Amino acid sequence: MPGNSFGQAFRVTTAGESHGPGNLAIVDGVPPGLPLAVEDMLPDMQRRRPGQSKIVTQRNEGDVPEILSGVFEGRTTGTSIAILIRNQDQRSRDYSDIKDKYRPGHADYTFDAKYGFRDYRGGGRSSARETNVRVAAGAIAKKLIAAAFGGNVVGYVSQVGDILADVPDPAAVTLDQVEKLPDGEPNITRCPDPEAAARMVTLIETLRKEGDSVGGAAHVVATNIPAGLGEPVFDKLKADLGKALFTLPAVLGVEYGIGFGCASMRGSENNDAFVPGEGETPTGVPVADTASNRHGGMLGGISSGQPIVLRAAVKPTSSLPREQPTVTRSGEETTIKTGGRHDPCLLPRFVPMAEAMVAIVLADHWLRWRGQAPIEEA
Ligand SMILES: Cc1cc2nc3c(=O)[nH]c(=O)nc-3n(C[C@H](O)[C@H](O)[C@H](O)COP(=O)(O)O)c2cc1C
Repeated sequence: MPGNSFGQAFRVTTAGESHGPGNLAIVDGVPPGLPLAVEDMLPDMQRRRPGQSKIVTQRNEGDVPEILSGVFEGRTTGTSIAILIRNQDQRSRDYSDIKDKYRPGHADYTFDAKYGFRDYRGGGRSSARETNVRVAAGAIAKKLIAAAFGGNVVGYVSQVGDILADVPDPAAVTLDQVEKLPDGEPNITRCPDPEAAARMVTLIETLRKEGDSVGGAAHVVATNIPAGLGEPVFDKLKADLGKALFTLPAVLGVEYGIGFGCASMRGSENNDAFVPGEGETPTGVPVADTASNRHGGMLGGISSGQPIVLRAAVKPTSSLPREQPTVTRSGEETTIKTGGRHDPCLLPRFVPMAEAMVAIVLADHWLRWRGQAPIEEA
């Protein structure tokens, strides 16, 4: 009932609050024998880390995970993997105002409405701080799907405010394009269109100076995904991916392929024509490809073998260093100006979180697919 676990066969359970001693994940279901070390997690931890550039929160956290169990002599043992990330740079005094006042757009009021008592420091359990251990768990999932079927997951920022990236083929975007600009400098927005990326930096800096924030959208693309992962009814791949994305803070929309664009199309325009592919599926059926990918890589809740393409809309950061009308815990009108260190735009740090959740769902469904593989006759 308490909802701190996600996934069935690849199961991630987390605990921790923004300003507590640290965050913990227990990852269950990883098969034995997968080579694994903290170093496998560090690149994505660096991409998620606060303080990584001038356009994100300046909270300074090393975010180096400790693996407490489930790995021996550099390989997974098949038992539960516990990952601990300690908090180092909490400044709880910044949050005394939100103890008795509700931040508009944040979780302070709904936590009180549910629990009647909350750890208000930095947003407690509602804070995106909790996602650091998910990113560590996601690094394990990425390794597992790469080893199992060459699966790859890359996310990127495709919109900040009204600035849209021009990305002709989402499935062709590489991690290198997301992380580096053509001149080799770090791509601090994680937008693979360098011209749009430069305008995004200017917009985010301007809004930060004005004490405001801005929303946007990120794409996540999974490639080399075999046809056949997913379930036909309640655990459709698109349902589990949608839930995975909506468990991340600040997500207000998720769409696949053509997404909401399908609402204005005719069937003859929307259908992706099947064309002969190469080889056979593990169930002995000749592979079919599609000439286009408006369906976003899933049909009937099951992967089609085309790249899985999704887009998530992320709202502007709600904590603002400017006066906003609100109420106190005792129901009186007041105003709030939120101190503390906040991201003026959540998108650049959202990308590795979204990739991690997509990889976790794919690892989960691959393990489930393995468990349901057709029986060979004796
Ligand atoms: C990468 C990332 C960083 C975030 N940082 C902040 C922040 O600094 N300040 C803030 O008010 N909200 C931040 N949030 C969003 C809140 O955690 C979120 O809006 C809040 O928990 C309410 O949940 P909801 O927006 O999903 O309804 C962040 C979200 C993400 C994805």
